[in-house]
Amino acid sequence: MKVLLTDSVDMKARDILKSAGIEADVRPTMLEEELKEAIASYDAILVRSATKLNASVIERAENLRIIGRAGVGLDNIDLDAAKKMGIEVVNSPSGNSNAVAEHVIGLIFSLARNIHGAHSHVKAGGWEKKLFKGTEVREKKLGVIGLGRIGRLVSSAAAGLGMEVIGYDPYVKEEGVKGTAISLESIENLMRNSDFITIHVPLTDGTRSMIGKKELAMMKDGVMIINAARGGIIDEDALYDAITSGKVAGAALDVWKDEPPHESMLLKLDEVLATPHVGGNTHEAQVNVAVDVAEKIVKFFKDI
Ligand code: MLT
Repeated sequence: MKVLLTDSVDMKARDILKSAGIEADVRPTMLEEELKEAIASYDAILVRSATKLNASVIERAENLRIIGRAGVGLDNIDLDAAKKMGIEVVNSPSGNSNAVAEHVIGLIFSLARNIHGAHSHVKAGGWEKKLFKGTEVREKKLGVIGLGRIGRLVSSAAAGLGMEVIGYDPYVKEEGVKGTAISLESIENLMRNSDFITIHVPLTDGTRSMIGKKELAMMKDGVMIINAARGGIIDEDALYDAITSGKVAGAALDVWKDEPPHESMLLKLDEVLATPHVGGNTHEAQVNVAVDVAEKIVKFFKDI
């Protein structure tokens, strides 16, 4: 058995595979053409998010039995193409949840106090304290869209900070939030009443552009928005208009419609705090996701 490890997957994955007697080739960065050439000689591949396993790559993977995604999102893998080729796909649904949730809390604080703006200001030689009168998060309403693992971790941390948490998730009923600090609301009420809104849903046909012009117009004046889930869930043009019109006071974006977002007009706005899709990028999380997926690959080969 031979596994290809790309995207700088943590080396704990290689160690686990090797100790199970599986050959592991490490090639951190590969161009699509290189991958197309190489993939036919592997039984498994382990990727993070940079490698795009689209249909034209997967069609060349004639010996591939399993794809491991060291992370949660499967949007860099063409699942239909994998299914057609009879290739199993596994991921790590929870290995980086805490990392993402902590990043979101950091982004909320940064937006509330404009830490990013103050940092750039002082580094550029400024000392105008009056430019940086922030807002406190205690007793503010946080709207959490999507109550999976990450949404719930963010909710409990936010409640610990004294925030009031309003949650929306079409798959969660009242019993599902019993004993938590989350009060379930319709999406419209969440949008109308939240001071901060954070998104924790996957990108699907149903969630693409779910925050658009209409939804932004519904929100409270001065709302702050955080997206560390997936780009494309917020319509970036509509967000740009909502920020420049003063409706939205700030947005913290870790994920983008196109990554890297070099062409995005949003990068030009001071109100936008930008990070390069690093929500899940902690030492701990990268070990967790690599170990999870390597163990799944070992088990897969043991069971067949
Ligand atoms: C995930 O899907 O696991 C996170 O967005 C982080 C990543 O893309 O690796």
